[in-house]
Amino acid sequence: PTAAEAGRHYDGPVVVAHRGASGYAPENTLEAIDRARRLGFDWVENDVQRTRDGELVVIHDSTLARTTNVEQVFPHRAPWNVGDFTATEIAGLDAGSWKGARFAGARVPTLARYLERVDHNDQSLLLEIKDPELYPGIERDVLRVLGREGWLTPRHLRHRLIVQSFSATSLRAVHYRRPDITTAFLGTPSAGDLPRYARFADEIHPGRGTISQGYVTAVHAFKGPHHKPLRVFTWTVNDAATARRVTALGVDGIITNVPDVVRGALGDD
Ligand code: G3P
Ligand code: CA
Repeated sequence: PTAAEAGRHYDGPVVVAHRGASGYAPENTLEAIDRARRLGFDWVENDVQRTRDGELVVIHDSTLARTTNVEQVFPHRAPWNVGDFTATEIAGLDAGSWKGARFAGARVPTLARYLERVDHNDQSLLLEIKDPELYPGIERDVLRVLGREGWLTPRHLRHRLIVQSFSATSLRAVHYRRPDITTAFLGTPSAGDLPRYARFADEIHPGRGTISQGYVTAVHAFKGPHHKPLRVFTWTVNDAATARRVTALGVDGIITNVPDVVRGALGDD
C-alpha cells in the first residue's frame, strides 16, 4: 500500500492529481481518476470545455487532435475543435490509445459522468474552466451541471470542490453567481494586484517557476471572499526536488501528474 493508503501521518501540502494521475493513465479520463484513487489520492484536477450541442466534456486542449483518434475517424473536420463536434461524436472517440495500447477505448467523459465517478471514488475536484473565451456563458453551464449532479451541497462546497480558471472574468462570473463556491485564480498576479483578486478568489495558483518565498508570504497576507487567508497551490510539479523546493516556500497545495512521486519526496512524518 502507498503511504496515503496506510493512513500514515502527513501534514504537507495538499497533493492534487493533475488531469487525474496523468503520468500513468490518459489525462482527463475516468481511468486517470481511478488511478489516482488506487494510488491513495483524494484530489483530482480536470479541464472542462463545451461541445457544439452544449454538453460539457472533460478535455484539456480546445481541439480533439492530441488526445483522441479524431483525425482517423473524421479526417475532413480539421482543425477538430471540441466546439465543432457533438457530444455523441466525441463519445465515440478513443481517448486512451495515444497513451498506450492498454488504454484503448478510454473515452472523453462528460462532466456529469466524471462528477459521478469522482463522487463514487470519494474524491474531491479542482475543476478548471478551460478557454472560457471560446464558450460564452460556460460558467452558467458548469454551475447547472454541478447543481444537477449534487455538487453544490454544503458538504461538497465545504470540502470537495474548487473552481479555477486562468480567466479572471470567468472566475468572477462563478463567484458572483455562487459566492459559496471556493475559487482559485490560475496565474501569478503582482503583489499590487492581489487585493483586486482577493475579492473573488480564495486561492492563487501560480506556476512553479514564478514563485518565491516572498510571493507566497505576500499572498497569504490577504484574505479572500470567505475571510480566510488566500491559499497557494502551484503547478505542475513532477519531480522530487521541485516538490521539496515549493514546499519549503510554504505552498498549501501541489498539482502534479505523479502524485506518488511528490508524496514520496515529502515524506510521511
Ligand atoms: O491546475 C493547474 C494547471 O492545470 C494549469 O495548466 O495547462 O495544465 O491546464 P494546464
Ligand atoms: Ca488544468
